[in-house]
This record gives sequence, structure tokens and C-alpha cells, in this order.
Amino acid sequence: MADKLKCMDTISQGVFIIGTRMNETYNFMTDAFVTQVSFNPCSIALSVDLSHYTAKLIQNQGQFSISVLAEGQELEAKNCGYPSGCDFDKAKRMKYQIEQNLPVIDGAASYMICKVKQSVVYEDHIVFFAEIVEGEYTDKKPMIYISKKFFP
Ligand SMILES: Cc1cc2nc3c(=O)[nH]c(=O)nc-3n(C[C@H](O)[C@H](O)[C@H](O)COP(=O)(O)O)c2cc1C
Repeated sequence: MADKLKCMDTISQGVFIIGTRMNETYNFMTDAFVTQVSFNPCSIALSVDLSHYTAKLIQNQGQFSISVLAEGQELEAKNCGYPSGCDFDKAKRMKYQIEQNLPVIDGAASYMICKVKQSVVYEDHIVFFAEIVEGEYTDKKPMIYISKKFFP
């Protein structure tokens, strides 16, 4: 198991903040399992542990934002990646703006607003296939995910 996890860790990934909304409140979750899946329409796949609050919010709302963290945004990744929105209001300590009713993180390399088209439960995760309906990018360098930085 440990070797398999180490092999998986050699797959290059970024670090992303998934923004969701429930009524007038917002939640943020750090995620590394995001990948491009289609050009026409521009679409991505996002994998979330079924036990996370974010999985329930996306299943309920059918939409989410992705903020692609820039180099140097490790604190944002930690602030959204350890506590759960079930028992802590993570929005209180984040700087963000609202785009299409969803929160996106200040200082990110880019953001995308995504509408879910399909979802598949695979073992302990749910994979959302979603179309990008709007996005903006900067020339900031995206952060590369190195698991031991976050899970020593
Ligand atoms: C750098 C980093 C990457 C993470 N990647 C994922 C991931 O790809 N999928 C996932 O389900 N959780 C991932 N997590 C864990 C969640 O962010 C964490 O469990 C979070 O508390 C869930 O929040 P929620 O319950 O508010 O949705 C990651 C955490 C960190 C720090």
C-alpha cells in the first residue's frame, strides 16, 4: 500500500481550492485530484472523498469553482485542506471574491466556474465530470503538488 501511494505521488498534479456554496455560506476544500478531460466543451474531472462536506455540497448544488493555487499559496492550501466545513467556517479566514455565485480565492493563478454534467462513485471517492462555463487566468506560476510538504 505504501509503495502504491508513493507511485501515485509521482503523477504530476497541481493544488486547487474547490469553492462551493450552500444558501448564503461558502466552503473551501483543497484538492489535488483534478484533471482535464475534454476540449469541446472544455471540461475537467474532479475527485473528492465521499466523506467530505464538499462532496455533499457539489452533489446538492451541481456546481463548484476551482481556484488554481499559485506558487507560495501553501497557507491557503493548509487552511482549506485540514479542517472540514462541517464543523468550521473556513470562509472566515480566506480572502475571496464571488463569481457566478461561487467563491474564488484571491491571488490564484487562475479560476474556473464548473457545472457538473456527470458523476461516478468510484470506491471511496466521487468523480465529478464538469464543464467550465467561465474562467480567468493570470501569468502566475501554478503550485505543484508535493504530498510530503502537506502530509509529512
Ligand atoms: C494539499 C492537499 C491536497 C488534498 N487533496 C485532496 C483530494 O484530492 N481529494 C480529497 O478528497 N481530499 C483532498 N485533501 C483533503 C481535504 O482538503 C480535507 O479533508 C478537507 O478538510 C475536506 O474539507 P470539507 O469537509 O470541508 O469538504 C487534500 C488536502 C491537502 C492539504
